[in-house]
Amino acid sequence: MVKKSQEYIVKIDTLNHQAQGIARIDGFVVFVDNVLIDEVAKIKIEEVKKEYAKANLVEILEKSPYRKDPECPYYDFCGGCHLMHAKYQHQLSLKKLLVEDAFKRIGKLSPKINDVIGTENPFRYRNKTALPVGGDYKKPQIGFYKKMTHDIVDINYCLIQHEFCDNVIKGMKDLIQKHKIEVYDEKKHKGVLRHIVVRNSFAFDEMMIILVCTKVPENLEAIKNDILDKFPKIKSLYVNLNPKRTNVILGEEDILIWGSSTIKDKIGNLTFEISPKSFFQVNSMQTEVLYRQVVKYLMNVEAEIVFDIYSGIGTISMFVAPFCKKVYAIELVRDAVEDAKKSSKNNGISNIEFICGRAEIEIPKLLKSGVIPQAVILDPPRTGCEKQLLESLVEHKIPNIIYVSCNPSTLARDSSILFSNGYEILEVQPVDMFPQTFHVECVVLMTNVKKQISA
Ligand SMILES: C[S@@+](CC[C@H](N)C(=O)[O-])C[C@H]1O[C@@H](n2cnc3c(N)ncnc32)[C@H](O)[C@@H]1O
Repeated sequence: MVKKSQEYIVKIDTLNHQAQGIARIDGFVVFVDNVLIDEVAKIKIEEVKKEYAKANLVEILEKSPYRKDPECPYYDFCGGCHLMHAKYQHQLSLKKLLVEDAFKRIGKLSPKINDVIGTENPFRYRNKTALPVGGDYKKPQIGFYKKMTHDIVDINYCLIQHEFCDNVIKGMKDLIQKHKIEVYDEKKHKGVLRHIVVRNSFAFDEMMIILVCTKVPENLEAIKNDILDKFPKIKSLYVNLNPKRTNVILGEEDILIWGSSTIKDKIGNLTFEISPKSFFQVNSMQTEVLYRQVVKYLMNVEAEIVFDIYSGIGTISMFVAPFCKKVYAIELVRDAVEDAKKSSKNNGISNIEFICGRAEIEIPKLLKSGVIPQAVILDPPRTGCEKQLLESLVEHKIPNIIYVSCNPSTLARDSSILFSNGYEILEVQPVDMFPQTFHVECVVLMTNVKKQISA
C-alpha cells in the first residue's frame, strides 16, 4: 500500500502524454515530474488517489545519459516547460513516443510515424505569451502558474519567449508599483489587472501588449505614456475587459488604447495581420516547416478545390492557394476572418473564399450545395473536430484529408473515427513547434480507400 509522505526508490518505466514519469510500486501507478525513462529515483508520495499516486522527485540515483541540467532557474517550479531536463534530440525521440502511444492507446492504430522534425532554435522561439499578474501593487508578481496550480511563479525572464517579453515582465512590475495598479485577486474576484498578453513579431521587430483588466484602470493615460516610453518596439496597445469569474484569459471587449489594431508577422514570404483574438501559431519559424509539410501532402494528392477548415487568419489557405484552383477557408472568430481577408489582399492572393462560422455547420452546408473538394485540411483546436463535421466528410467521401493537430490524443480519437469509416492513414509527420514542453504538432495524410476502390 502506497502511503502519503513516504519515500520510495523506483525505476521509471515510461512517460505519459504530459511527460510525467510513470513508475510502479507493487503494481500501483505513481506519476513523477522531471524524470526520464529508465532512471532510478528516490521519490516522496505527495497525493494518493484510488488508481494512482503523485510523487515529488527527491533525488536521481541513476541518471539517464539523455539528462542535462535545465537552463532555466525557474524550471523546477514553473508549469510552462516540462522537458528542459532532457537533451534536445532526446526531447524529439520522446515526442515521437508520445504520438505513437496516443495512436495505439486511444486510436487503436499503428500508422507510419516519421521522426519528429526539430528546430535549430529550441529557445526564445515563442511569439506570444499570457502572463498572469498576482501579489499586490507594492510587490507585484508576474510569471507563469506553478505546475497544476494557480500560484504564480514570479519570474524576471523566460527562456522560450522573445526577449521583448522579458522587458515587459520587468517594466510592467515597475509600472504597477508606480501607478498603484490594483492587481486582480482570483480567489476574492477583486482587483483590476489580471493578465498581460504580449505578442511580438520576429519578422518586423514589433509588439502588441494587451492589459487584461476587470475594468478600465485608473490613470490609463499616464500608464499608456509610460508604456510607450518603456517599450519603444510597441506597435499596438489594448485594454481587454474581462470582468467575469473565469479561467478564460481574454474577455469579449478589446479597447484599442494606442497604435495599430493589428501587428504583422511573416511565415515564409507571406505577411499576416494579427488581431488580439486571432489565432497565430506561436513558433513563427517552425510554422513554415509545418506548412511546407501540408503543401507536400497536398502536392501528393493533386487537388483543385481545397477546404481549409479551422483556418484562423488564413495562413494555411494562403500557403496552399498557389497549388490549387480555389480554397474555401472556414473560421469561427470574426476578427481572424477580417485579418485573413486583409492579408490575402496584401499578399496578392485572390482564389480564397473566406467563410465565418462554425465548421460543423458551414461544411455540411457547403457539401450539400455541391461544392466538393478533393482535399480537406483540418486544423482544429486542442479539443479536436466535432463529430458532426467528420460525419459530413465521411458521408461525402472526401478523397483526401490532411489533419494538422496540436493534440495527439484528439488526433488519435478523430483518426480512429475516420479509419473506421474507410480512411487509411498514409503518414504521420510530427513537427516540434514547442521545444522544452511536452507539446507536439502533427500533420497526417489520410486517404479514403472506399472512394478509390469504387472510382
Ligand atoms: C489550431 S487553430 C488553427 C488556425 C490556423 N489553421 C493556423 O494554422 O494558424 C484553430 C482555429 O479554429 C478556430 N475554431 C475553433 N472552433 C471552431 C469551429 N467550431 N469552427 C470553425 N473554427 C473554429 C479557432 O478560432 C482557431 O482559429
